[in-house]
Amino acid sequence: MDRKPKSKEEIFEELEQYQEKDMKYSDGRILGSMCTEAEPIAKEVFYKFINSNLGDPGLFPGTKAIEDKAIKMIGSLVSIDDPYGHIVTGGTEANLMAMRAARNYARRYKNITEPEMIVPKSAHFSFKKAADMFGMKLVEADMDGYLIDVNSLENKINKNTAVIVAIAGTTELGLIDNVEEIAEIAKKHDIYLHVDAAFGGFVIPFLKEEGYDFPKFDFSLDAVCSMTIDPHKMGLSVIPSGCILFRDKKYLDVMAVKAPYLTKKEQSTIVGTRSGASSAATLAVMESLGREGYRKLALDVMDKTMMLKEGLEDIGYDLVVEPQLNIVAFYHKDIDTDYLADLLEQRGWRVSTSFYPKAIRVIVMKHISRDNIRDLLVDLKAISYNI
Ligand SMILES: Cc1ncc(COP(=O)(O)O)c(C=O)c1O
Repeated sequence: MDRKPKSKEEIFEELEQYQEKDMKYSDGRILGSMCTEAEPIAKEVFYKFINSNLGDPGLFPGTKAIEDKAIKMIGSLVSIDDPYGHIVTGGTEANLMAMRAARNYARRYKNITEPEMIVPKSAHFSFKKAADMFGMKLVEADMDGYLIDVNSLENKINKNTAVIVAIAGTTELGLIDNVEEIAEIAKKHDIYLHVDAAFGGFVIPFLKEEGYDFPKFDFSLDAVCSMTIDPHKMGLSVIPSGCILFRDKKYLDVMAVKAPYLTKKEQSTIVGTRSGASSAATLAVMESLGREGYRKLALDVMDKTMMLKEGLEDIGYDLVVEPQLNIVAFYHKDIDTDYLADLLEQRGWRVSTSFYPKAIRVIVMKHISRDNIRDLLVDLKAISYNI
């Protein structure tokens, strides 16, 4: 640190120089991101609540009421009237909280001392972090195509199984596990079921309203104990905004530790000091868009998804799978996928690749326009001609 303070102008000039190196969502070139430009109202409100600390809610009872309202509103999307939970930093923290709750519950009420979690191979890597942090064994169920193989899942259950995880909107392909069947199994064996709808949670309910034929995936299934659903992905809120919902307060209680110096004497969250601004921004964006706004968004991204899918098929690319949500994974039979990703990068696109199977993965977020898709298809066609 310099000894002398810098002027505001100098500081802004320096920071803006750094910022210029960043990609912008508005360029329409970021194809592999599950986050997007936050709604203007979310940004404005975020700044207004920048000093609120929900780690000490007795000092900020108004902001705490905002968090509670946001939780209830998100719950209303996924069939639960009175959920318990928190607005957290993202899907990772939400999944961590769910795994910690399940482990502690199993330890306290089922005497499980060597807890295991069963996840599909398609699960997000945050579950690996959870297993490592909470001393749990990570057991991967096999896949049936690109969804969890329900028989393999059931075969992996043993006396140490503390939690089963199902995914509603997989990270790589946007697919929805057969949560109904998984819930039957969880119920039969009396095991905690967590649904990771970090990506799908703000899309599936609205597409279902429009008649999309998706399986039940939410708290309408009584075996579902908790759910991750991220406002900073398809919820159009600011980064960092995740959400963890629990069916029952007992899952928060098993994580509670004494917080002697704070206004509330117990704390169940992983972090201590935590942003109230994320809760305020998330509530603001949900109130500003309403169900109507999210429904329009979901239909719009799905329409663009179909445009991309059909365009790819027309120019000789293969899809890994028919898209269920707004993620398209594709490859070219004659081009190595990593090489294809490099060629796209050289043309200014930022893509990501899926691991299983290897493919280019485009998440058709709000910031990708129809013109961007047309330009992408032109580049992909040129690439395939030059091979
Ligand atoms: C299904 C799923 N769960 C969890 C996460 C982790 O979310 P975050 O990056 O917000 O921590 C992701 C991120 O892509 C995801 O796709």
